[in-house]
Amino acid sequence: EKGGWPSFMAKEITEQPEAIANTVRGRIVGGTADGDGAADAAGGARVEIPELTELGDDTLRNIDRIVIIACGTASYAGQIGAYAIEQWARVPVEVQLSHEFRYRDPVLDERTAVISVSQSGETMDTLMAVKYAKDRGALSVSVCNTQSATIPRESDAAVYTHAGPEVAVASTKAFTAQIAALYLIGLHLGRVRGTLSDADAAAAIRAFDALPSAMAEAVETHEQIAQLAHWMADTRSVLFLGRHVGYPAALEGALKLKEIAYIHAEGFAAGELKHGPIALIDHGQPVFVLVPSPRKAPVMHSKVVSNIQEIRARGARVIAIVEKGDTAVLPYADDVIRLPLTDALFEPLVQVVPLQWFALELSTAKGLDVDQPRNLAKSVTVE
Ligand code: BG6
Repeated sequence: EKGGWPSFMAKEITEQPEAIANTVRGRIVGGTADGDGAADAAGGARVEIPELTELGDDTLRNIDRIVIIACGTASYAGQIGAYAIEQWARVPVEVQLSHEFRYRDPVLDERTAVISVSQSGETMDTLMAVKYAKDRGALSVSVCNTQSATIPRESDAAVYTHAGPEVAVASTKAFTAQIAALYLIGLHLGRVRGTLSDADAAAAIRAFDALPSAMAEAVETHEQIAQLAHWMADTRSVLFLGRHVGYPAALEGALKLKEIAYIHAEGFAAGELKHGPIALIDHGQPVFVLVPSPRKAPVMHSKVVSNIQEIRARGARVIAIVEKGDTAVLPYADDVIRLPLTDALFEPLVQVVPLQWFALELSTAKGLDVDQPRNLAKSVTVE
């Protein structure tokens, strides 16, 4: 059942191209080129999620604020999704951990949409937050991977990720499928609310179309990452840096490492370095840096390259995750992991894949149980 892989996590990492394709299927409609519509974005394809259409366009136009609630990995998917939803739907989006949300007396009304994100659909903290929001009149939308789980049943609409069953405790394919689902929600909202330009819609649809093959290429970094993890088996601390959507992706890279390799790891916003974390850098400190595309995000790219120079000057061992063809970081990086080109907002979906492999390989190098880490459960059904 592991499909020849030594762990479910390895199998699930490799299933991501398919998980994304399945999550997107049937939600990009109306293109002229083929049934999926995605191939001809300029030919009238659009994102349409039937479950959101059922809520009524007036309901969606009425939303003036979105709160995404989730725990763990799902909360990082939420943080990434927030950038895209704000950009396309022009609604302020905030992300809160479910267990914090409930006890802060949040401001909620019928113009607030609460989007919960949960692989299992059973996480008690998230379920209680959804019920709380519903009681206060908010619209609730569930992003969930498990058909008919409690959270989607308690919600006004369910937008399922179709990642397939995820067995490993550490989430991988459910995470990237959650990001895809949140992006589709952002595109649907942007279209209905009239805030999404045709050019942005077409670019996003093209990016979705190219994503499964880009992710398949990212999966192929496995061998390179395995070698990296092999020499790093004794590492006691690893840092991850990113900017914009790369920041929550860095947080996720760090969480994976804590969960299954039991290594101290932290993710930082690269811009925050000089406000504190740079004090942690000394000789040999491994730092993964998620480098934005020089073509699609030139300003952020140059800022991240400066950050790399700063930490390199203080002795960091830099592992740079870059877009293929980006040579700017070569003089300052000890290791370079090359990924296919994609749109700036879509980068976390490919960048996280080598980080997932890294956690898995480090866990394996330490002789740990990759799929069943100590102290953790796949789904936490107590508060
Ligand atoms: C944790 C799991 O306990 O719950 C994480 O170990 C997961 O992997 C988190 O991200 C949230 O779970 P769910 O099912 O709500 O997405």
